[in-house]
This record gives sequence, structure tokens and C-alpha cells, in this order.
Amino acid sequence: MNKSYMLKEYTDTINAYLENVIPVCDFGEDIVHEAMKYSLSIGGKRIRPVLTLEFCRVCGGSIEDALPLAAALEMIHTYSLIHDDLPCMDNDDMRRGMPSCHIKYGYEYALLAGDGLLTGAFGIIADSDFAKKNPSAAVKAVSLLSSLAGANGMIGGQVIDLKNENRKAGIETLSKMDELKTGALIKCAAMLGCISADADEEKLSAAVTYAEKIGQAFQIVDDILDVTGDEKSLGKPIGSDKESGKSTYVTLLGVEKAQEYADRLTDEAAKALEVFGAEKEFLKELAYKLAKREN
Ligand code: IPE
Ligand code: IPE
Ligand code: MG
Ligand code: MG
Ligand code: MG
Repeated sequence: MNKSYMLKEYTDTINAYLENVIPVCDFGEDIVHEAMKYSLSIGGKRIRPVLTLEFCRVCGGSIEDALPLAAALEMIHTYSLIHDDLPCMDNDDMRRGMPSCHIKYGYEYALLAGDGLLTGAFGIIADSDFAKKNPSAAVKAVSLLSSLAGANGMIGGQVIDLKNENRKAGIETLSKMDELKTGALIKCAAMLGCISADADEEKLSAAVTYAEKIGQAFQIVDDILDVTGDEKSLGKPIGSDKESGKSTYVTLLGVEKAQEYADRLTDEAAKALEVFGAEKEFLKELAYKLAKREN
């Protein structure tokens, strides 16, 4: 099995890679390139690319192969946050501890920076050494990213989120909403790691189960932190969901029951890792860390 990594080693590796792949402007520096760089580099836990790299490792692959997939996914995630913060969506002024992209660069350029990150992400995979070495796996990765980030994936979840403002959504709606708006990219992260390592069906299926569970738990904890969190450590405004009249597990169940549900999902996620034997520890710890996070 490959050498194991620490969380910080992974995030340093991802940050260094991202710095090199942010699209450069062919006609001199412009505001949209600056805005893309800003939003990508001001922070972020990098949970999704970490998952991609670790699933690649536990499936016996090489980190270099997974990096372009991980970076593309983080670019798409970052674009989703830029657009999510816009006044026509959640109207949030802070992101990753800094002014949101539209506050710093204006609405129009924030919109375009998001578009630039989304479009550029697919090029990162298509132009990578991994694509030259393994074109069919690269096409699979692009297809997966496109479907899970698209209108039947993350975007679809954002639609449910908006449609359920100022009304009390039931458990089924909330579960679908979180599965799509947050779970889809987290599932994608795990699956991309498996694809980069050419994992077998058994490992892929375990990765999907784990990711689906932590994806649901991740959004529930995000909703809890919107109520109980500290703005400074969270790096984004608290009370935003209430202000926009969002339907969340917290509005439906209350903080305590919502946390219990997130903890139960985390236990189930940990159980799904058995197939990875002793190599499962990092992913198991990560799941529990995310359930107790403060940002
Ligand atoms: C925020 O995601 C949006 C949700 C899906 C809840 P993260 O909490 O992963 O945000 P960053 O990347 O660390 O800023
Ligand atoms: C975000 O959900 C989901 C996506 C950006 C796709 P939230 O709206 O709860 O995320 P935060 O709280 O703004 O990070
Ligand atoms: Mg939102
Ligand atoms: Mg939001
Ligand atoms: Mg939130």
C-alpha cells in the first residue's frame, strides 16, 4: 500500500497544485482572473480534494494521477460558493474569512469568475498528464464531474434550496436537497479518487456509501454551525439561513436532534470503510472530525 499522508500534507499539496493550474489570462492580467485566484486562494478546508487524494491512495493509485481531478473539483466547488453568496442566492458578504467575491470585485465579475472556474476545471483534467496516460479514465472523470455538478446534481440541489425558502420542507425534501447540493460533490470527490486508481467495484461502492453518508452529515453540521457557530472561526456569516428563511434539518429537528442524526450518519460512514482494512483510519478519523468541526 502507498505511503500514508497527514491532513496538512494533503492540503499543502493541493494548494501548491492549485496555484499552478489557475488559468492565466492570455492578454495580460484582468479582473476576472484576479477574482478567480482570490476565491481559490483565500482559504477553504479542501475537504473534497483531500477525499479524492486519499481514496486514490487507499485504492492503490498514485497521488500525481489524482491531483488534476482533485483540483478540478475544488475549482467547481469554489465557483459554487461564489455564486451561492450572490445577492440573488444567499446574499452573504463573507466567505473563507474574507469579503465574498462579489463584495470585492462586483457582482458581474463574481459571476464571471465563477463561470471561469467552472469552465476551466474541465480543461485541467483534459490537459493533464493523467489524461495522456489514461484517456478513458480522464473522460470518465469529466463525465462524472459534469453530471454530479450539473442540473441533476449540485445545481439541482441549489434549486430545491431556493424553492424551499420561507416554507417548512419535510424530511424527504431536505434529504434530497442535501444529497444534491452538497452530497453530490462529496460523492464525486470520493469517486474521482477511485477512478484515478482504477479501483474495483467493491471499493468504488464502499467509497460511494461512505461519501453519501458524510455528505449528508456535512450539510447538517453546516446548518448547525449557521446557528451555533462563531463567525470568526467559521469565516462566513452566521444566521444567514434564518435571514433567508431556509429550510434545514435544524429548522425541522432542532440543533440537538440534527447533531444526533449527523453523528449516526458518521457512524454508518465509518462502517462502510471495512473493505479498506487497516488503510481506513484516515478516512474514518476525517469523518468524525467533520462531524465535530467548528468551521
Ligand atoms: C461550504 O463547503 C458549502 C457547503 C457545501 C456546506 P465547505 O465547508 O467545504 O467550504 P470551504 O471549502 O471549507 O470554504
Ligand atoms: C451550499 O450550501 C451548497 C453549495 C454551495 C452548493 P450553503 O448555502 O448552506 O453553504 P454556505 O453555508 O453558504 O457555505
Ligand atoms: Mg446556499
Ligand atoms: Mg450559502
Ligand atoms: Mg450553510
